[in-house]
Amino acid sequence: MDAVADKSPDLNALAKRLLASVEAAADLGALEALRVSALGKKGEVSELMKQLGTMPPEARKSFGAAVNAVKDQVAAALETRKAGLEAAALAEKLVADRADITLPVRPNPAAEGRIHPISRVLEELMVIFADMGFSVAEGPDIETDDYNFTRLNFPPGHPAREAHDTFFFAPKENGERPLLRTHTSPVQVRTMLEHKPPLRIIAPGRVYRMDSDQTHTPMFHQVEGLVIDRDTHMGHLKWVLEEFCKAFFEVDNVKMRFRMSHFPFTEPSAEVDIQCDRSGPELKIGEGSDWLEILGCGMVHPNVLKACGIDPEEWQGFAFGMGIDRIAMLKYGMPDLRAFFSGDLRWLKHYGFSPLAIPSLAGGLSG
Ligand code: DAH
Repeated sequence: MDAVADKSPDLNALAKRLLASVEAAADLGALEALRVSALGKKGEVSELMKQLGTMPPEARKSFGAAVNAVKDQVAAALETRKAGLEAAALAEKLVADRADITLPVRPNPAAEGRIHPISRVLEELMVIFADMGFSVAEGPDIETDDYNFTRLNFPPGHPAREAHDTFFFAPKENGERPLLRTHTSPVQVRTMLEHKPPLRIIAPGRVYRMDSDQTHTPMFHQVEGLVIDRDTHMGHLKWVLEEFCKAFFEVDNVKMRFRMSHFPFTEPSAEVDIQCDRSGPELKIGEGSDWLEILGCGMVHPNVLKACGIDPEEWQGFAFGMGIDRIAMLKYGMPDLRAFFSGDLRWLKHYGFSPLAIPSLAGGLSG
């Protein structure tokens, strides 16, 4: 009895202290640490139980009951506090995660965004020419006079240089005048200098001329084509252009007219018109009695082959250059070229393309 009497006040104090700590535990982590230190295997309460073995039977009974009572009390307090802390954490999370359902729904970016008609037409061109075995070549917008003119058989001082309304940069120390390329034809030069024939490339890109009205902007786009092989001839050129026009304008037949022309870098040279009908409100390609010029072409001049390290006795080929903006306007009925580059979102919304509609020959080009 003495022993119990001795221990009892300790037990009361212990219970009081433990219950106070449970009440003060700030979070679930602290609470768990407290549970381990009180009721865990080596916890304070469990340690007391170990004293039982050393006690006389009478004392053991009442001391055991008292320690068990403390244990139950502390366990119950831990449960209550745990539930309280969990409820508080949940309430806090609910407040933090609250969604303001009065906010307007944000439009899906894929549904809002638009692909510019030029980018779209570029993709269409690449799909069509890739199917005919062409690869895509590129060159810089800032070119040398040599690549833009001289090696393309424009001799220095030749009047055709003036026809290009060139933007020149200030001359360098060595007298060279860099320029903004006036056509994509210098990519022909770069391709021939870098690769051995046979060659089959298209080169789309930006070109620049000092010109601005409803159908001209100082920057516009062209696509160049170049095929070099041992026995390539005008017949191949005509077939390629015809296949291109049918695929691009999505018509079964298109009449083309090859008009004799002159370019320094081709011999013979031609300009190509396609048949169309301009009598109604909409322009129709492949029918009617009107003609629209869409490109220049010809057999690559032997001087150009020579200037690019290719033997004209062994190789020959054809080239063409087409205005991308022009064929985009024709295909998609866009009347003013300047609007292409004015950055007006309303225009882009109207004429632009869904980023998810990717052109393919199998799935349809204009989707
Ligand atoms: N480079 C010419 C221009 O911008 C277009 C052109 C005509 C390119 C005939 C060619 C070609 O490759 O063979 O006016």
